[in-house]
Amino acid sequence: MSVTALGRFRAVFLGAPGAGKGTQAKQLVGSQSVLHISTGDMLREHVGQDTELGRKAKSYMDSGQLVPDDLIIAMVQDRLDRPDADQSWILDGFPRTVPQAMALDSCLGEERGLSHVLYFRVPSEKLVERLAGRQTCSSCGAIWNRFSKPTQQEGVCDLCGGTLTQREDDKPEAVTKRLEVYTAQTEPLLAHYRDQGVLVEIDADRSSELVFEELLNALSQDA
Ligand code: AP5
Repeated sequence: MSVTALGRFRAVFLGAPGAGKGTQAKQLVGSQSVLHISTGDMLREHVGQDTELGRKAKSYMDSGQLVPDDLIIAMVQDRLDRPDADQSWILDGFPRTVPQAMALDSCLGEERGLSHVLYFRVPSEKLVERLAGRQTCSSCGAIWNRFSKPTQQEGVCDLCGGTLTQREDDKPEAVTKRLEVYTAQTEPLLAHYRDQGVLVEIDADRSSELVFEELLNALSQDA
């Protein structure tokens, strides 16, 4: 299916750390005009620029915990208030707690409500392996994997020649914490969105290409 066939959508990507949300979002954004609003990327940018928010968020992120709701909600509300948010967008990594989901519901209102919530389902043992192998390009942000999607030259991005880095929170202790936090605080959102009738489950324990096909199919249909 061609990506240009999609109508306007306002989608949330839900799933555990390493489920492939960022990989799928980048592929979608690469093929049409869609805003990719990734709270993880936004926070990492704040940390990199040493802003006040970045300084507050860093220790939570490095240890695998969630950044406090009030900081995240304000950051996302501000992003959704910008004029370009009237096009299709993907919220990747937000909401992650019930208070965040409630804040999003009230920020969007009924008229501008979510069209789809895509849940990328992957067994936890696969998540650990994916996170252990993930490498991110420090220049263009491309996502690679030492095991499943290696670059031609070790440590160098195939797309732009940039240097690959491992995220601080992909180290084993932080990964364990992130998976615990996901189960306790984010999984309850599945019921929240199932009740709203917008949840679509995607079996994401398959090749990225197959997952992408299913994603396009889901976005082309009303939830
Ligand atoms: P964030 O950056 O959002 O991290 P995450 O949700 O933990 O998700 P990841 O980026 O780890 O995984 P992903 O699903 O995008 O997987 P990817 O595509 O990279 O958040 C980081 C931190 O910021 C949080 O811990 C928290 O502290 C803070 N934060 C962010 N949002 C917050 C919020 N709303 N509230 C509070 N705090 C917040 O893929 C992973 C690897 O798998 C890659 O190497 C990839 O190549 C590989 N892969 C992908 N798809 C496949 C496939 N189909 N088969 C095999 N390998 C695959």
